[in-house]
Amino acid sequence: MAKQRVLSGIQPTGRAHIGNYLGAFVNWVRDQSANDSIFLVVDLHGLTVENDRDSMGAATLDMAATLFAVGIDPGQATVVIQSHVPGHVQLGWVMECTATYGELSRMTQFKDKSKGLSKVRVGLFTYPALMAADILLYHADLVPVGDDQTQHLELARDLAIRFNNAYGETFTVPKAQRVAHGSRVMDLANPLQKMSKSSSSPQGIIFLSDSDDEIARKIARAKTDTFNELAYLPEDPERAGVTNLLEMLGALTGKAPEECAGEFSGYGQLKKALTEALVELLTPIKIRFELFQTDPAELARLLAQGADRANEIASDTVRVVYDRLGLVRSGG
Ligand code: TRP
Repeated sequence: MAKQRVLSGIQPTGRAHIGNYLGAFVNWVRDQSANDSIFLVVDLHGLTVENDRDSMGAATLDMAATLFAVGIDPGQATVVIQSHVPGHVQLGWVMECTATYGELSRMTQFKDKSKGLSKVRVGLFTYPALMAADILLYHADLVPVGDDQTQHLELARDLAIRFNNAYGETFTVPKAQRVAHGSRVMDLANPLQKMSKSSSSPQGIIFLSDSDDEIARKIARAKTDTFNELAYLPEDPERAGVTNLLEMLGALTGKAPEECAGEFSGYGQLKKALTEALVELLTPIKIRFELFQTDPAELARLLAQGADRANEIASDTVRVVYDRLGLVRSGG
């Protein structure tokens, strides 16, 4: 059977953290040999809100280096910086002209992100059309997404179907690959909220680049509760902190969180074991990441290779789409 094409993307805003790793990267790495995978560092999406021009390039390269450092193998999967492939913007416009104002107005992430902004960029509104283009450009079969992206993926499916109906079979209609339960990491300081690059304090986030001391300090300060007996009760919001620690340890050790709960007599022991598991995971990742810092030419080479492969697929798709739309080809 032909390999399924899997595609996912991550914004280069902020540093990657353990929530990105356990919620996404670990699955990307696990499945990379079974699938034909494309992972995008979506720098153009980063322009939808105010961003810092001076750090944009470094953040983009760091995110790409992080993907290789966590184990994405450039021999198996393709890592691409979105702006290196003009097809994203070309098909993005076509998707803007396929989606309706009403559809984009219903996107809950737009409503959340635009709230409180004095100036809302039009790109923030049309962002889901660009995301649809990211996916459809490569005829992706499967898109691993978290809950916050399912509505965007639904839109991508709708747009693919609409275009196919209007102009003939052109796009693969992508399916969502739901991320397994328990891989959602919560903020250590505020465990009712998802661990997120955009959260206010770094204290609640374990970055993949954190030193051993930082990891130990953040885990030591992680919010728990006053129940004092270790139990895995994920439905109880008052125990959300401990639930999160148990789920993280479970994900890192391949054990069920219940089992982890049975192994310790107190929160101190649990935190110590979790700190050790995190240090063990992150030490080799940090070493591989550092190799790219000392050899930026190697990173550039891998990304040029990714862009070449992606451009080959993307330019083909754009040509077919433009033909279907009746646009005149250049050069006679
Ligand atoms: N919108 C996604 C996010 O913010 C990132 C993204 C952009 C993406 N293009 C994509 C994810 C294509 C999957 C497929 O997390």
